[in-house]
Amino acid sequence: MNIYSGKTKIKPFQHKGVFLDISCHCWDNKYSHYFQYIQFLMKKNIVIGICGSIAAYKVPSLIRKLQDKNWNIKVIMTQAATEFITPLTIETISKNKVYIDLFKRDEWEISHISLSEFGNVLLIIPATGNIIGKIAAGIADDLLSSTVMAFSGRVIFAPAMNVKMWGNPIVQENVKKLKKLGYKFIGPEKGKLANGTIGEGRLSDIEKIVEELEKEFTPKE
Ligand SMILES: Cc1cc2nc3c(=O)[nH]c(=O)nc-3n(C[C@H](O)[C@H](O)[C@H](O)COP(=O)(O)O)c2cc1C
Repeated sequence: MNIYSGKTKIKPFQHKGVFLDISCHCWDNKYSHYFQYIQFLMKKNIVIGICGSIAAYKVPSLIRKLQDKNWNIKVIMTQAATEFITPLTIETISKNKVYIDLFKRDEWEISHISLSEFGNVLLIIPATGNIIGKIAAGIADDLLSSTVMAFSGRVIFAPAMNVKMWGNPIVQENVKKLKKLGYKFIGPEKGKLANGTIGEGRLSDIEKIVEELEKEFTPKE
């Protein structure tokens, strides 16, 4: 990469309360390279929280796609998620240990705090009705919900559930509340669900989710 010094008048970019001074160095003068430089400065660090849904089998493909786009990835699984996909699969694909237990202390680190400090983005995928309800109610009774509570970056939900669960007024109230508080939702989409019925509740396409995550690193005017 061709880095050189040059003065370009660019507005300071704020992320997680930190202003990044990018006025001194840039890669060429092209706009796209400027974005690449911001991405380089901001580090694309993501915590992925996997929940207990059939759609959990789609997460390895998401991890692969994010690795191709140079994301640094750490994964939390809920206990329920381990019923749907093995931690071994996720560890092998992500080339990193998987975090499950809030109280496991194999190192000195306090996982929910260190994970919340690692990530710029926290993506919950597939987001169950249960985790949506817990976050909306301020419950932090496992590693994923505790990490969300301590997290100061962007939290994104990619829900997947049965059409009736998604349509449940309590779930809808929780989603409304979380959106109002600034949490982002990607999907769910209308389509064929796990039990063969058609309706709203299908996990958004992995490509779309990757696209939305990349947008988090595109400065807005
Ligand atoms: C076969 C099966 C499939 C399930 N799929 C979903 C789902 O897609 N979405 C959902 O919200 N809950 C689903 N559930 C229920 C959740 O697994 C359950 O609410 C669990 O407590 C979620 O825990 P978690 O949010 O901590 O991962 C499913 C349960 C079973 C047995």
